Amino acid sequence: MEIADLKKQVDQYLQKHLGSDCDQSTLYESMYYSLMAGGKRLRPNLTLAVVHALGKDLDDDVMRAASAVELLHTYSLIHDDLPAMDNDDLRRFLPTNHRRFGAGMATLAGDGLLTLAFQWVSDNHLKETVRLQLVQLLAQAAGPAGMVAGQAMDIHYEGTGLSLNELKNLHAKKTGSLLRYSVMAGGVIAQAPADTLRVLASFGAHYGLAFQIYDDLMDVVSSEAKMGKAVNKDADEQKNTYPNLLGIDGTKQALAQAIAGAKADKQQLDNRGVGDFSLLDDFLAYFRY
Ligand code: IPE
Ligand code: IPE
Ligand code: MG
Ligand code: MG
Ligand code: MG
Repeated sequence: MEIADLKKQVDQYLQKHLGSDCDQSTLYESMYYSLMAGGKRLRPNLTLAVVHALGKDLDDDVMRAASAVELLHTYSLIHDDLPAMDNDDLRRFLPTNHRRFGAGMATLAGDGLLTLAFQWVSDNHLKETVRLQLVQLLAQAAGPAGMVAGQAMDIHYEGTGLSLNELKNLHAKKTGSLLRYSVMAGGVIAQAPADTLRVLASFGAHYGLAFQIYDDLMDVVSSEAKMGKAVNKDADEQKNTYPNLLGIDGTKQALAQAIAGAKADKQQLDNRGVGDFSLLDDFLAYFRY
């Protein structure tokens, strides 16, 4: 099994099932547009990789529960790009949703994807306790104590210099919490014991922090052609980012530290002997700097 195989399965599941629960054609077009524009499918891939590592099959119910987080993530991107937020014109190599459908429909496409995510984690045939746990964890990770709090800090503190600890907290919330959920969800679905779940949560948190630090870095050193979204925007908007606070070298050091944390967690998972977590190394190979 490779990450590319997981991505293919997620793409197929999303393509096939998005339409079943959408009753307005323009809304559907708008949701479909952003969802199928591409994207690495990193979050559902992480869930599936952990389920697989713990020896459970990736059946239709697992696919549904795991793919839900991609719906929610896509909503967060659509809203993040809105004129009232980051005001971006390009996402996943295409015009942003509001550029194509207008801000009203883009807002609703996000609302639809967010809500549908909770439907998918709950209306499947996984055990009731598993479904309830997924709903609660996803709500905590994505809601006003998690991602939305991080996005609110991101906007609120534009133009105000946060300390490193405050910035780390912002990143942990706006990006780390959903990635942490994604890794944990694999453990929940496979009904891993509580101590394994704790290590998975720690891996996800380290990975998620690394992911946003890397995204900040790419905004400075990468290109629109590679990223499929505008670059060199964060400094102009006076965003709190690692490069703005620590410079490029300091950012690379902080990134290496977060990755080292994830590697230590992965080692702990290996030491437990509860599964084969070698795919997690491939996720860590995403960071090239
Ligand atoms: C972009 O996420 C937004 C951040 C949290 C930095 P991804 O880099 O996972 O975006 P897609 O899903 O591949 O488009
Ligand atoms: C967004 O962070 C994180 C989300 C929760 C969507 P950014 O604003 O840095 O993400 P990009 O760079 O636009 O993808
Ligand atoms: Mg943003
Ligand atoms: Mg943005
Ligand atoms: Mg960014």
